Amino acid sequence: MQTANTLEALRESVAKLRAGGETVGLVPTMGALHEGHLTLVRRAREACDHVVASIFVNPTQFGPNEDLDAYPRQLAEDSAMLESEGCALLWAPTVDVMYPGGFVTNISVSGVSDGFCGADRPGHFDGVATVVCKLFNQVRPDMAFFGEKDWQQLAVIRAMARDLDLVLPHVHSIIGVSTVREADGLAMSSRNRYLSQKDRTAAARLPAAMKQAISQIEGGDNVAQSLKALKGALIDAGFASVDYAELADASSLVSLDTLTGAPARLLVAARIGGTRLIDNMAVN
Ligand code: PAF
Repeated sequence: MQTANTLEALRESVAKLRAGGETVGLVPTMGALHEGHLTLVRRAREACDHVVASIFVNPTQFGPNEDLDAYPRQLAEDSAMLESEGCALLWAPTVDVMYPGGFVTNISVSGVSDGFCGADRPGHFDGVATVVCKLFNQVRPDMAFFGEKDWQQLAVIRAMARDLDLVLPHVHSIIGVSTVREADGLAMSSRNRYLSQKDRTAAARLPAAMKQAISQIEGGDNVAQSLKALKGALIDAGFASVDYAELADASSLVSLDTLTGAPARLLVAARIGGTRLIDNMAVN
């Protein structure tokens, strides 16, 4: 596996991969890789001739009181994992390469960015949309792979790519890949490592309580009451607070107080021991 740290080196290496008309799949990450990321790499390998992964802890998507400095950085370990999964190229720019002096552009996707994590983390999705647009333009992949765990992020990226005409020819498809879970159901996340043993045990109540709320809603129970019970179950389990627990249309992310027949999603963000966990599941 090659590693590129400059745009020139990246372009040269991607051009070599593409020689002969071969396809390139991009897996954008912030590092601290786990099985969820490696699943994205495997999906990209199945779909494309070559995989390019990026590792960039993007400062513009962290709020002033968030964990930018504490965010785990382990480039050597991540690089070895990507190599053993058959990744062809690692794109690992520095902050100065990604945002050279004088950088003034911001991409803001309204609507889908506004609620849920967007409401709790002002500016977060502008940072995501801007850096992902840059990654698409830098690598020009045929396909890009993102985890469905960040459901709202995926919706924002799809809207950005559609509105800015990035879908063709630069990014042929944006592929959402199902959330990978630990044995007890907790969605894999680089932030799970912040949890104490006690909080890690309690965190498994999140997917369990979500499944219970979904079976109630799908069974015809009142949505607001089912969501209230879900929040109560999380607080009882040891969560400090619930930022949101809502039912929404799966693509527009408009909140729903009843099922409409269109695909819906239960989205939750809750805090435990200083760590904010998010999860989402389909509701039919
Ligand atoms: O999901 C992530 O790891 C990040 O938000 C992404 C898409 C790599 C953009 O920085």
